Amino acid sequence: MSEALDSMDFRPLGELLCPEPEERPDLWPWSARRREDGVLEIGGVALSEVAQEFATPLFVLDRADLRGRANIWATAMAEEFWDGYGMNGGDAFYAGKAFLCSDVVRTVSEVGMGIDTASLGELTMAVRSGVEPSRIGLHGNNKLDSEIELALRAGGGKGIERIFVDSLPEVAQIEAIAARLNTSARVMIRVKTGVHAGGNEYISTGHEDQKFGVGAFDGQLEEVVAAIEAAPHLEFRGLHSHIGSQIQGTAAFEEAASIICSLGKKISEMIGRPVEEIDLGGGVGVAYTGDDEPPTPPVEVVRQIARSVREACTRLDMKIPRVSVEPGRSIAGPSTVTLYRVGAVKDANLAEGFTRRYVAVDGGMADNIRPALYGARYTATLANRVSDAELVRSRVVGKHCESGDIVVWDVDLPSDVRAGDLLAVPVTGAYGYSMASNYNMLTKPGVIAVEDGAAEWIMRPQTVEDLLALDPGLD
Ligand code: LLP
Repeated sequence: MSEALDSMDFRPLGELLCPEPEERPDLWPWSARRREDGVLEIGGVALSEVAQEFATPLFVLDRADLRGRANIWATAMAEEFWDGYGMNGGDAFYAGKAFLCSDVVRTVSEVGMGIDTASLGELTMAVRSGVEPSRIGLHGNNKLDSEIELALRAGGGKGIERIFVDSLPEVAQIEAIAARLNTSARVMIRVKTGVHAGGNEYISTGHEDQKFGVGAFDGQLEEVVAAIEAAPHLEFRGLHSHIGSQIQGTAAFEEAASIICSLGKKISEMIGRPVEEIDLGGGVGVAYTGDDEPPTPPVEVVRQIARSVREACTRLDMKIPRVSVEPGRSIAGPSTVTLYRVGAVKDANLAEGFTRRYVAVDGGMADNIRPALYGARYTATLANRVSDAELVRSRVVGKHCESGDIVVWDVDLPSDVRAGDLLAVPVTGAYGYSMASNYNMLTKPGVIAVEDGAAEWIMRPQTVEDLLALDPGLD
């Protein structure tokens, strides 16, 4: 009883309302609006209609929004690092782990972004979607031979431009594969800058005691550079740092940029030529609920990174390298909402006068593991109508067989929310579908893109037959 009360948000009713699109545009796709009849609309399409046509649960991606956010990053990098400003060029690579399918690849490529991948699946998706190999990167702390081989064979043997070396043994691994394929591999080194940033321990990656990258201050980096320089089939291109994810503000990025420049200077002295490129990874945060501050605009992050790089290079008296970034969440996250159909609604009486309403929907932790995994907070609103019924503090839960199956921890919903209503959960475009599972043998929802009044599948929903097809014991 008291534990349940401990986890209850006692703020006055009304404080945990989901902000409407016009109140907090940063929580919604750009085209989201509430129609006069109370129905939420995205991309010119009524969510009540797409729920009918495509069924729920459903990811609804506003393609123009995604394109716009990608364009902001690509343009900011091109402009702030324009060589007319004495810079040496800048690039933005979309981090495919946030959400990847061919439509997304094409949408972000259209505005000049490259694609950053971290597995055979992501790399194959990028290659098969037609991305120029020179616009693809490959990450991973434990790369498979098959991943490296595809990276080197892509584009009829041209190979991708950036393989991020994550450890000393990987140098020999890539060298052996490049030698066997009689080609050369262009590599960068992922380093631990010591900058500790990010939404939580699981997604913070710059510090020493975690699995990614090589030590920058303990001789490891020099050892890896020397190994690459000695490898006949490897070309050393530069240094990479990713300090974490869901980062607010610009200070941590500025610090990482400055440290990477100093390391670049040290390495250029070691190899006797300038380090061509530095990559500062992803990590720019987004707001998920009305409690979160609106995020720092990407343009501002890029501007501060550019300032920091310029200052560091001037101080170090070194040539400014080409600079790249790999944003994922800040592009895909707010572009998408998840649409659920409400089913069972019930009240749990926690103590005299304290009731928590449980509103169950037709998806849950299999399509969004983040609340269960990280305690991540989301919000939700009625999508098929508005209601002036009194509010009740509600917890939106899924249909999986465990009590941690929470979609929204606490939100104030009208007390007349009932079976058949639709709930929209905003900011689910990053690390929702891409971390989805088939727990309880639920099928993964599909993803539709909406744009200019039209809706179409960009990932079709799984069927039970898709799941059963993997089982050789069934006819
Ligand atoms: N570059 C590298 C090397 C990365 O490891 C990541 C994210 C990114 C770029 C993109 O970061 P973003 O801009 O999306 O923050 N599953 C967690 C997030 C893990 C992020 C892992 N790496 C979550 O749901 O919060």
